[in-house]
Amino acid sequence: MSRRAAALKARGISVVDFGAGEPDFASPAVAVEAARRALAEGFTRYTPGSGLPVLRAEVAESYQKRYGSPWTGAQTVITVGGKAALFELALAVFDDGQEVILPSPAWVSLPEQIRFAGARPVEVATSVEDGFRMHAEPLLAAVTGRTRAFLINAPCNPTGGVISAADLRRVVEFAAEHGLLVISDETYAQFVYDGLEHASVAALAAEFPETVVLVGSFSKTYAMTGWRIGYVLGPPDLIPAIENIQSHATSNPTSFAMVGALEALRHGAADVEAMIAEYAARRELLIPRLNAIPGFLCRPPDGAFYAFPRVADLYRPGRQGSVEFAELLLEEARVAVVPGAAFGADDHIRISFACSRAELAEGLERIAAVLAD
Ligand SMILES: Cc1ncc(COP(=O)(O)O)c(C=O)c1O
Repeated sequence: MSRRAAALKARGISVVDFGAGEPDFASPAVAVEAARRALAEGFTRYTPGSGLPVLRAEVAESYQKRYGSPWTGAQTVITVGGKAALFELALAVFDDGQEVILPSPAWVSLPEQIRFAGARPVEVATSVEDGFRMHAEPLLAAVTGRTRAFLINAPCNPTGGVISAADLRRVVEFAAEHGLLVISDETYAQFVYDGLEHASVAALAAEFPETVVLVGSFSKTYAMTGWRIGYVLGPPDLIPAIENIQSHATSNPTSFAMVGALEALRHGAADVEAMIAEYAARRELLIPRLNAIPGFLCRPPDGAFYAFPRVADLYRPGRQGSVEFAELLLEEARVAVVPGAAFGADDHIRISFACSRAELAEGLERIAAVLAD
């Protein structure tokens, strides 16, 4: 859909892009300046394969300060984005014939990575009526003798769904009792709304050090998607396997990008606050207007920066399913969205609010006008 939107734009056609899965903000100036300085000073060689020791230590410290987690730099690997962290984890942890339980709809790469490692994704449905909340009981009910891990992405891309601290604890306790892992993809941890607190596995790491693994990223938090810096923190006996895989796969993440990331971590808090406030304002604008379009059903997402409305009531012969519906919106309304089918939810489309309020207003008007016809 992105490619088709880009092709239309290249022909001079105005397209409103609700497809982007990345912040529309600039990376923090402090990060840009630090990376520029590092380049100018010739910081362009290999670094240790698991990342700069100072960045490993300060990432670990940031969780220790906020959540009291016991992880140190030695249990932290800096990776080529959160995606590489998750991929390396899949290779290190999952084996042929094993099952990995994850809430669904799920971010596209999660089931693929599980399959790539030879295991089987077991998807547990969340629903629009329930705000895509993740609950412990259905996750635990999916456990079999082949289960290896729970893989939880909250706040979730594409749904914005979250898990409560109590439910997360319940899953972790169960996993600890049964020798399973809980892998928590906290890429969108900063982006929660209406005063909600993000439930992090970091808060349970001291109690369950062998059970919880946390994946994080600078991409969305600091609007640094192209820098490709993420990380994984976890049990001391798991981390060497990750380091080993990374040493043979990518070696270190880019040297000067890590210097920029360190600066973002140290001094980027104000940038993050400003982004959160802007996302919150966009969400206020977007959700009521989406629900005002007949046939759209959308609960305000608890987190991340996506709306995931149910639109199946608007399917007709000739536009059956989310792919054809997204095509209609692109061809006739000139609005790009992501079909829910990509995430295993064909009744839905994903609308990113990582775009300006003016674009949101314009895109919504276009969609409403085309559907009213
Ligand atoms: C849920 C989720 N996890 C992980 C990632 C990986 O992001 P990155 O590799 O840029 O850190 C993404 C990116 O879209 C995501 O949506």
